[in-house]
Amino acid sequence: MRTDSEQTIYLKDYAPTPYRIVSVDLDFLILEENTRVRAQLTIEPRPETAPGTPLVLDGDELKLDSIAVDGAPLALSAYLADANNLTLVEPPHRRFVLDTQVTLDPEANTKLMGLYRSSGTWCTQCEPEGFRRITYYLDRPDILAPFTVRMTAPIALAPVLLANGNPIERGEAGDDMHFAVWEDPFPKPAYLFALVAGDLGSITDSFTTQSGRKVDLAIYCTHGKEGECHYAMDSLKRSMAWDERRFGREYDLDIFNIVAVSDFNFGAMENKGLNIFNDRLVFAKPETATDANYHGIERVIAHEYFHNWTGNRITCRDWFQLCLKEGLTVYRDQEFTSDERSRPVQRIHDVQNLRASQFPEDGGPLAHPPRPEQYREINNFYTTTVYEKGAEIVRMLATLLGEAGFRQGMDLYFERHDGEATTIEAFIKVFEDATGADLSQFITWYLQAGTPQVSVSDSYDADSQTYSLTLSQKVDPTPGQPDKQPLLIPVRFGLIGPNGSSMGWSGVSGGTVRDDLILLDRDSVTLTFSGVANKPVPSLFRGFSAPVKLSSGLDQADLLFLARHDSDPFNRWDALQTVSTTLIAAAAKGRRWSDADADGLRQALVDTLENPQLDHAFKAQAIAIPSESVVGRHIGSDVDPDAVAAARHDLIATLVGPIAEKLESQYDALVVPEPYSPDAGQAGRRSLRNGLLNLLTAGSDRGNALASAQYHAAANMTDRYAAMAISAHYWTGDAPALLGDFRTRFAGDPLVFDKWLTASAQAPDDGVIERLRAILAAPDFPRTNPNRLRSLLGAFVMSNPTQFARADGAGFRFITEAVVEIDKVNPQVASRILTGFRILPILEARRREAGRAALEALKSQHILSRNVGEILDRILAG
Ligand code: TRP
Ligand code: ZN
Repeated sequence: MRTDSEQTIYLKDYAPTPYRIVSVDLDFLILEENTRVRAQLTIEPRPETAPGTPLVLDGDELKLDSIAVDGAPLALSAYLADANNLTLVEPPHRRFVLDTQVTLDPEANTKLMGLYRSSGTWCTQCEPEGFRRITYYLDRPDILAPFTVRMTAPIALAPVLLANGNPIERGEAGDDMHFAVWEDPFPKPAYLFALVAGDLGSITDSFTTQSGRKVDLAIYCTHGKEGECHYAMDSLKRSMAWDERRFGREYDLDIFNIVAVSDFNFGAMENKGLNIFNDRLVFAKPETATDANYHGIERVIAHEYFHNWTGNRITCRDWFQLCLKEGLTVYRDQEFTSDERSRPVQRIHDVQNLRASQFPEDGGPLAHPPRPEQYREINNFYTTTVYEKGAEIVRMLATLLGEAGFRQGMDLYFERHDGEATTIEAFIKVFEDATGADLSQFITWYLQAGTPQVSVSDSYDADSQTYSLTLSQKVDPTPGQPDKQPLLIPVRFGLIGPNGSSMGWSGVSGGTVRDDLILLDRDSVTLTFSGVANKPVPSLFRGFSAPVKLSSGLDQADLLFLARHDSDPFNRWDALQTVSTTLIAAAAKGRRWSDADADGLRQALVDTLENPQLDHAFKAQAIAIPSESVVGRHIGSDVDPDAVAAARHDLIATLVGPIAEKLESQYDALVVPEPYSPDAGQAGRRSLRNGLLNLLTAGSDRGNALASAQYHAAANMTDRYAAMAISAHYWTGDAPALLGDFRTRFAGDPLVFDKWLTASAQAPDDGVIERLRAILAAPDFPRTNPNRLRSLLGAFVMSNPTQFARADGAGFRFITEAVVEIDKVNPQVASRILTGFRILPILEARRREAGRAALEALKSQHILSRNVGEILDRILAG
């Protein structure tokens, strides 16, 4: 294999640049054929820089048209310019203005980094290293400067001209051209630069901040889509209010713009004052968007808005610190959603996601610390570990310090580091300084990869009324980290007595217990509680107080007791999940459950469903049977996905059989009256109803008919999509017909096409790969659009374990062959799809070997991007 660069970047090599950029003036001439970029950079040496030190600017696929320093063209001998660098051999030893011009071809930019065109609109994506595809620059986050941007474009093609900050001038420029000038007074790193030029519609609104400033809000989109932007706007205003209430953070410019584009590598981007969004996270109407889509829009709008303080005002010193802004901002968006909706339901949702995506990453060949120490391609480190585990670490900090202590630390963070590019160490330090806590052990969470495994044993002595509880932690080796340190693990807990109510104790020895928190800070801690009147059942890691895998040692009877009595909703849910996971995992290995086990679980599910105190959304989560992937992870090695799928199906049938009628009458009773609203109450009802449909489809002979009927009668996309996706997943008799109907019914709507692609990709029948190949090969398949590719291939790789991991290797080869083609167009999308192969180590040998063979062929037969090359090498080495 050859890749375009195998160079590794190390955190330990961090050093400030010898020169800094004082201010930036950009001038874009945007034309149909190409775009000309003139950059005037005011630059100065740092005080410690020796005269004659070369200045090395970054570039990527750039071609220099002209160059001058302080107005005088540079001699050829004074600089070196190639596609990746511009070097001034001996820059002036004082402040100077570097004036360069390059010409770009946005139309040809299918990588979607830098300046590109999406459905006719010119737009940019610069994080993390896209700005160097626009102009030569010190393209790293510790270079902060104020930007002024002038752009000139054809009036007809681009009546709307946007950039960061405030508009300060606009007018005609002759030849049917016009111009606009935008100024961003807040010094920012180049990755937060953005520009949009296009023919766009918009909706507008305003928000008055707590100090009484009026901020003009706008969301821009393709003409005709304006009506689908209102939920996003509503989410934005609620986010702005929440950040004031919860963190005292006010917005700082007079204008906040959001633009929705169809071709985008990620969810969205927090460019200062000009967020750019993947349109799937903006557009929503009941007929085409699901409750989950509305939920996602709310969350991501909030996330990008919250970055204004955690990311933009305070940014990262280098990309190793990515978690500083992302983990913290995910924590903030999770908290926002918890406050806006149901906290326990949101917590369960977030943990489900963590277990489904982060745990597999952390337990496989792609494991890395939330703050990595090396990378080849930084785009490969926008991971669930950096984002979601990063959020869990912040959450643990809040747990350890308490709400008030956490808030004091955050206040100090904003006060001390506003306007800076900083580090994880500085973040931890503010909490130490604000509260006096010693966090020297806690920081290990950022530095060490792998999910800790916590095991538990306990004993009760009736004579002395003492209860002792031993908690032990262990982290398996991960790539590059053979030896692990013990972590500081906060264990929120309670003891539950035989009658189901919580029990107290009169004293505790052997370790640190603060109220309902045990600090597990060594390999093993044994706590002895005195004055415990009866043998308790321990409820540990309430609210999932730390991102660990727990072996509680509890048997099914204890777990079902918790499911019934725990005051902590998370642990009630988790107990049910553990019981089903354990039963399916054992059955997949040939040890099928006993009738008594199945009866006990069934009764617990019925009791949950019939409990009037619980809300619908929680019930939906509680009755959900863990996915095949979750069970596969639980088994952990030598996994046969077909056996797992069969055991799961069998368990659902066993559970549902005797209660099918009861479930169906609940299903019937849960119809949600129209009109549709995306609010949590209605959404929860729909999710419970669709959860019942899922059970009935997998576990009774009524499912096919019910799902078909629901599909055809549905008045909203949530119910219609659920019926189709459930039918496809269990490959019911009507599944092909429903998929066929869906495709024609919504022909022409790309975001609904994505839903069809995802449902199609999850079909478990042996014909699926041929069907997917045909979809992909169709001449009109939009093969440069990341949403389409991810909906088809991402869904196949991540949620069709029986077909992706087929023993004959056909699933693996389908993906590696697709990756070769996609890599030529968009390496970020290609490498993301390839990460699905991280599952190989847990598979049974035949499948594992088939997967490796596909990867070896990919490596030996193709020229690959750095993105794909790095992922491939790490999986093969792991
Ligand atoms: N910072 C973005 C976020 O909020 C992530 C992002 C958007 C991104 N576009 C990207 C990362 C392109 C890498 C490449 O999470
Ligand atoms: Zn983010």
